[in-house]
Amino acid sequence: MQDDDQSSGGPKGLSRGLTNYGDKDFSLYLRRSFAKSMGYSDEMLARPIVGIINTASGYNNCHRGLPELVAAVKRGVLAQGGLPIDFPTISLGEVFLNPTSLMFRNLMAMDTEEMIRAQPMDAVVMVGGCDKTVPAQLMGAASADLPTIQLIAGPMMTGRYEGERLGACTDCRRFWADFRAGRVNSDQIGRIEGNLATTFGTCAVMGTASTMACIAETLGMTLPGTAAIPAVHADRLRAGEATGAQALETARLGLTPSKLITENSVENALRVLLALGGSTNGILHLTAIAGRRGIPISLRRLNELSDTTPVLVNLKPTGVGYMEDFHAAGAMGTLLRDLAPLLHMDCLSVTGESLGDRLKAAPGHVDRTIIRSREEPFEAVGGLVALYGNLAPDGAILKRSAADPAMFEHTGRAVVFSSLEDLADRIDSDDLDVKADDILVLQNAGPKSPSGMPEAGYIPIPKKLAQAGVKDMVRISDCRMSGTAFGTIVLHVTPEAAIGGAIGLVENGDEISLSISNKSLELHVNNDELERRRQASVSQQARPSRGYAKLYADHVTQADQGADFDFLMATD
Ligand code: FES
Repeated sequence: MQDDDQSSGGPKGLSRGLTNYGDKDFSLYLRRSFAKSMGYSDEMLARPIVGIINTASGYNNCHRGLPELVAAVKRGVLAQGGLPIDFPTISLGEVFLNPTSLMFRNLMAMDTEEMIRAQPMDAVVMVGGCDKTVPAQLMGAASADLPTIQLIAGPMMTGRYEGERLGACTDCRRFWADFRAGRVNSDQIGRIEGNLATTFGTCAVMGTASTMACIAETLGMTLPGTAAIPAVHADRLRAGEATGAQALETARLGLTPSKLITENSVENALRVLLALGGSTNGILHLTAIAGRRGIPISLRRLNELSDTTPVLVNLKPTGVGYMEDFHAAGAMGTLLRDLAPLLHMDCLSVTGESLGDRLKAAPGHVDRTIIRSREEPFEAVGGLVALYGNLAPDGAILKRSAADPAMFEHTGRAVVFSSLEDLADRIDSDDLDVKADDILVLQNAGPKSPSGMPEAGYIPIPKKLAQAGVKDMVRISDCRMSGTAFGTIVLHVTPEAAIGGAIGLVENGDEISLSISNKSLELHVNNDELERRRQASVSQQARPSRGYAKLYADHVTQADQGADFDFLMATD
């Protein structure tokens, strides 16, 4: 919540939230004195302030272009008579973090929230893009509730390998699977590695970063039409300048996140997630963002929406295109226009315009090979589905748009891996007792496990089956999957094994049934036997004893709550 003295009529600019020495005039005098050491004139220091969160980092390839983008935001702020001040927060470069980036999303959200609240600013522009940075910033902003605009870093462009178009990171996984199966040799995989990610910006497909960019725009937290502009496109810089120019007007209108992130805009975002064939991580992050405003997301409601929301977007990993194609095809304006009868039109954006008014503008060029109409969808129902049953009493998620329909109704024998280490040790063993119609189960990789719910749900096909041509199997875990991955993969099983969930009780040879039509996930073991196993099970996992790992393990919620910290969720 905002400090009382910072609501309208209270202190502005540099006078906001003074350091408390027991003498307000002294505090302001001291602050101005130190600000002047940075060369600011009195005229500049009298201006309203737009804080700009700059998440450029040498450990974040996706944000390499942010210094230029932040400069563009500053131009926009200056042009409107504001003082732009950029500041850093934690930056999360997806592939550089151990054990997994998700574990640090909540830390970045805390950093974002507290630095917005602690430092003097009248509005804030948050610049981010890589997978966890967008939800972390939105979570923090939702709690700080200062007028905020998010500026997306933008997707990277595709590269080429021997004439074939490549984009991180669906093609990363496809070629790695080919390498494991012996269809690509080590020389070729080396050259592919050098062509998968060739510009700055976020992953080029409809993975988590792109999904979250589209969700941010749908929530009204970005300037309309900016989610999909490629990172290297000059329009991205113009979007930066326009975002800076808008920030003080958003503040003047009093458009704090609590006015934008509402039950209706969250439901719109769920529709968009489903129509995009978006990342499974999207539901986790949107749940956490909405939770900061006290808006619960029910997975049963997700299923209702999924049954009435077609997949309209034809991007990898579920389709064929890349984000640069989505941008050229009309991007979010076209998608929202096509979904309009299913959306709440009264939702506002940072400009103060309602969604209904935004969509009255004439549509530009639309490429129907990339964004279909509702009358001719790519798939009649939404990309995600929640599953329930005795194996997942509080739900699990499957991305049906990325799964093999031949496995939508499947019963098979469980092949169980008790941890990520066990998986790594045995998955490629010649001795592994596994057949193509078995179901691979990974235990102890959920939010409270030591691995912190990594993107390990895309369990590799055992090498001997991959070499025999098997491309997909039903895989079940309590962890996550990269938004760029594909396969018949059940994720986010809740409750997780680490807190006694049934997934931790599955044994080799148990029979499991997956039914998409019934939205069910059943373990065919009777309750007495499950109870016997529960009594006999002894947790092997050591609990962290200090630091952030302890805070995380003690307070992270289950996947159906967004894996936020329990003490950061809204309490009213
Ligand atoms: Fe940053 Fe994929 S690694 S979005």
